[in-house]
Amino acid sequence: MNLFVKAVIAFSALTISVQQTSAQVYLDDTAAIEDRVDDALSRMTAEEKVALLHAYGKFASSGVPRLGIPQLMMSDGPHGVRAEINWNDWKYAGWTCDSATAFPALTALAATWNPELSALYGKSVGEEARYRGKDVLLGPGVNIYRTPLNGRNFEYMGEDPCLASVMVVPYIQELQKNGVAACVKHFALNNQEQWRGEVDVNVSDRALYEIYLPAFMAAVQQGGAWSIMGAYNKYQGEHACHNHRLLVDILRGEWGFDGAVITDWGGAHDTGEAALNGLDIEMGSYTNGLTSESKFGYDDYYLAGPYLAGLRDGIYPDSTLNAKAANVLRLIFRTSMNRNKPYGALASPEHYNAAKAIADEAVVLMKNSGILPLDTAAQDMKILVVGENAIRNLNEGGGSSDLKVKDMFTPLESLQKRFGNVTYAKGYISGRPRYGKEDIIPQPVLDSLRNEAVGLARKADVVIYIGGLNKNGFQDCESTDRREYNLPWQQDMLISELAAANPNIIVANISGNAYAMPWLDQVPAVVQSWYLGTMIGESMADVLTGKVNPSGHLPFSFPARLEDLRAHSAGAISYPGVTDADGSNPRQEYTDDIFVGYRGLERDSISPLMPFGHGLSYTTFEFGEPSLSQSVLTEGGNVTLTVPVSNIGRRAGAEVVQVYVADGHSSVPRPVKELKAFSKVYLNPGQTKTLHFDIDPSMLAYFDESTHSWKVEPGRFDLLIGSSSTDIRATLPLNYR
Ligand code: BGC
Repeated sequence: MNLFVKAVIAFSALTISVQQTSAQVYLDDTAAIEDRVDDALSRMTAEEKVALLHAYGKFASSGVPRLGIPQLMMSDGPHGVRAEINWNDWKYAGWTCDSATAFPALTALAATWNPELSALYGKSVGEEARYRGKDVLLGPGVNIYRTPLNGRNFEYMGEDPCLASVMVVPYIQELQKNGVAACVKHFALNNQEQWRGEVDVNVSDRALYEIYLPAFMAAVQQGGAWSIMGAYNKYQGEHACHNHRLLVDILRGEWGFDGAVITDWGGAHDTGEAALNGLDIEMGSYTNGLTSESKFGYDDYYLAGPYLAGLRDGIYPDSTLNAKAANVLRLIFRTSMNRNKPYGALASPEHYNAAKAIADEAVVLMKNSGILPLDTAAQDMKILVVGENAIRNLNEGGGSSDLKVKDMFTPLESLQKRFGNVTYAKGYISGRPRYGKEDIIPQPVLDSLRNEAVGLARKADVVIYIGGLNKNGFQDCESTDRREYNLPWQQDMLISELAAANPNIIVANISGNAYAMPWLDQVPAVVQSWYLGTMIGESMADVLTGKVNPSGHLPFSFPARLEDLRAHSAGAISYPGVTDADGSNPRQEYTDDIFVGYRGLERDSISPLMPFGHGLSYTTFEFGEPSLSQSVLTEGGNVTLTVPVSNIGRRAGAEVVQVYVADGHSSVPRPVKELKAFSKVYLNPGQTKTLHFDIDPSMLAYFDESTHSWKVEPGRFDLLIGSSSTDIRATLPLNYR
C-alpha cells in the first residue's frame, strides 16, 4: 500500500470516528430546539457565526454551508410575496414563475374587524411564501396611525392599539404554521416616512406603552413571532435597529422575545451598538450597508468584518456573538431547516377566494342616503364610471410592498360585467408610480379631463366615482409623506362639479389614508375602499350592487381638518419634526402623547368627519339591553358583559359590536373612552344573537410611569357599547374595588 492510500484510509477512519462520537443533534428535528442550537454553535467557528449575522444578498442571509445549515431567504411582505429581485441589485429579476396573489392591504384587513379573516390571510400568504421558497416574510406592519400624512399607513392596522393587537395575532400564528417566519415591522415608532432614517422620536413612556407598543407585544407574546424588524428612525438618540431600551430592555427583557431582530434595510449605523444592543441580522439596501452601490461588499457591513475584528480585539464579548448566532439558528431551525413544513401554493383559486372574502368585509359604507345598493336588474340604467382608480393597477408602486400579480380585476371591468351599459371617463390622471418622485400633471390636461367627465355626467343616470389616492410618490407610498390632506389632482373640484352635474353620484374612493371631504354634503353616498389587491373590482362591485352587504368599519378616524389632530395642532415640533439650521439632526416630540386619533379628537370635543369604528350596512341592527354578570370587579377577577344584537332589517349582514371603557375618576388625564374589546356578528333578517365579552382589570388600567407598571384606580368606570366610537348605544357602570 502506498503512502497516499494509507493516508486516505487513516483520514476516513478519523472522519468516521468523529461522526460516531458526536451525534449531529442539530440535524435531528426530533431534538429540542435549544439542544440543536447548542450543538450547532459548538461546531461553528467565529467566522461562521458572524456570517449568520448579515446579508449576503438583497434578501438573503447566510447559513453554514460546511454543516449543511441553509441560508434564510426573505421577501416582502406584507400583502403578498414580492416578485424575485436580483441577488445583488434592486432590479426585478424578470422571472416568469413569481406572479402572486395580491391580498388586501393591512388597513383593509383591520377594517374587517374580523380576526378569523386575519387567520385566513396569514395562512394564505404563508402558503404563497412557502411555494416561493421563502423563509421570512417581511410583515405584518403594526405601526400606529398617528397622522394621515404618513405615506405608509396603508401597510399598517390603524390608529387603535386594541384593534391592531387583536388583528395581528392570528395572521402571525397561521403564517408561521407554514414554516415561514413573520417579521413584524417596524419596531418601533416609525410613524412617518419623512426623515424616516434619522428622525429622533421623543415620546412619553405612557404613550409608548399605551399606544405604540401593544400591537408589537401582542405579536411577540400571543402571536409568537419568530422575527421582528427594527425601524429606521431613532428613539432616545439611538437608532431603533440597535436601540438598547427597545431591544434589550423591552423586547427581550420585558417580553421574553426569543426570535431574531432583523434591521430594516440599511437601518444599522454603528458596530458597537449593533454588537451590544440586541441586533441579530443586518440587512442592507446597498452592498456597503448604507447609502451607495459598491462591488460585492457585504463583508463591510457593521455586523460583518468590523464586528469580527472587534471580537478578535476583545472589544465585544464572545457572549454577544453566541447570543446572536443562537437567535439566528433558532430562526433557521424554525423555518429553512424545518423538514415538516407544507409545500404551499401560489395564486390558487383558494387564495383568490381568501383575498375576496377579506376584501368583501373590508369595504366601509361611510354614507348612504338610500342610493345604494344599485340594482343590477336595471340594465337600461346609464352608468358613468369616473376616476383613474377604476382602471389602475394599484398593486404596483408604494415601495417595498409592490406586487406582481397574476390576475387583477379592476373596478371598471367588474362593473361592466354586472351592468353591461357602462361608460368611462378618467376625470383626472396622476402619472406613474415612482418611489420618492412625482409627475406634475399640466393644468390643461386636468381641465380637459374634468370637463369631459362632467359633460358625460349630465347624460348619465348614475355616476360612480372611483378615485382617492394611489401608490405614487408622496401619496400612499413608502419613503415620502403626503403633502396635503385633500385629495390630489384636483379631485375635490372634480367631485363637486360632477355632483352639481348629476346628484346621483356615489363616491367610492380607494386609499390607505383619510382625506378631507369638502364635497361630503353634495353627494348621497360615500364608500371607502382600500388597496384590495387581486379581487378589488369584484369586491367593490359586489358591495355597490348589494350582493355583498358592507360590514367594514373604519380602523382610523377621518378628521375634518388635519389641525384637528393633536399631532398637527402642536406645529412642526410634533410633525414632521424640526432640524438644525443646516437641515441635520431631525427630531420630534410626540406632544399628542396618548391622545392619538379618536382619543385626541374626543378629548378636545372635536367631531370627526368620519369617526373611528364607523361603518354602515344595507340592513339595520338593534342592540338589546346589555348586562354584566356583576357590577363590581376586583383585582384578579373578571366579569362577563352580555350584549344581545338583532338584525331588524331585510338583508343578512354583519355588525361590529365595540366595547369602550371610560374612566371618569382618574388622577391622570385619560381619553374620554378607549376601545377594549369587539366582536363581529353575522345575522340573518330577524335573527338575534347574544355576545359575551370578558372584562378584566387590565382593560381599565393606564400605564403609570412612576412605577413603570399598569395601574387601575378604584372607583367607577363605564362600559360603552356601540357601533362606532361616536355611535354609543348603551352604557353600563362598573365599579373597581
Ligand atoms: C422597508 C421595509 C422592507 C425592506 C425590504 C425597507 O425600505 O422599510 O419595510 O421590508 O425595505 O424591502
